Amino acid sequence: MPVIDIERVSHTYGEGTSRRTVLRDVTVTLTEQRIGIIGANGSGKSTFVRLLNGLVVPTQGAVTVDGLDTRRHAREVRRRVGFCFTDPDAQIVMPTVAEDVAFGLRRRGLGKAEAAARVRETLEAYGLADHADHPAHLLSGGQKQLLALSSVLVTDPEVLVLDEPTTLLDLRNAAAVQRVVRGLPHQVVLVTHHLDLLDGFDRVLVFDEARLVHDGPPHAAVEHYRKLMS
Ligand SMILES: Nc1ncnc2c1ncn2[C@@H]1O[C@H](COP(=O)(O)OP(=O)(O)O)[C@@H](O)[C@H]1O
Ligand SMILES: [Mg+2]
Repeated sequence: MPVIDIERVSHTYGEGTSRRTVLRDVTVTLTEQRIGIIGANGSGKSTFVRLLNGLVVPTQGAVTVDGLDTRRHAREVRRRVGFCFTDPDAQIVMPTVAEDVAFGLRRRGLGKAEAAARVRETLEAYGLADHADHPAHLLSGGQKQLLALSSVLVTDPEVLVLDEPTTLLDLRNAAAVQRVVRGLPHQVVLVTHHLDLLDGFDRVLVFDEARLVHDGPPHAAVEHYRKLMS
């Protein structure tokens, strides 16, 4: 698995009187295949995971992925670390399902036939083959999330970061996304409020008020989080 190293990271948004520090002195090395992130709204979870692919560059400290600093090697890091947002509509950019997945492969230097084959394989793998030529906006919420996931996975990242991928979904759609995520061979970093998604995870980090306050197996982490919230 890739080694993600977060070294003495702090992050502050804004300037002057609107400055707000949302991560404080976080140091942690992630090497496990399944890593969960939990914590209250506003505790810094999204900022933390955005650091992992360079969407956010820390105001202090450093983040490296297999030795590549996100500050200096953003492009290489982004190739290794795929990112999936909560709202698939924020990520779906092309009119049809197949076009959206193909969009991720642009500038990869693949031939037309090879790119089309990769798109087809990906749609098959994630249950969207029958929807290849459908308008993306007509998919169900769960299918949209699987499409957003497919458009990232087609680029063959080593790490997949998922920021609350089931928050907007009903139970049936959430279960479909959960099944797919469980089966992925990738290193997965998952932010969630659906705590049962973390069953079987290797490690769960708990954030509270900008700090990493607990780091351990899922059961202990969830207990820690529940105590914080009670
Ligand atoms: N781009 C931004 N500019 C200013 N403040 C932000 C920005 N993104 C997030 N914040 C603030 O940072 C804090 C932490 O946010 P976030 O990392 O999204 O936490 P979480 O995902 O745990 O809810 C929140 O108070 C949020 O309002
Ligand atoms: Mg968030």
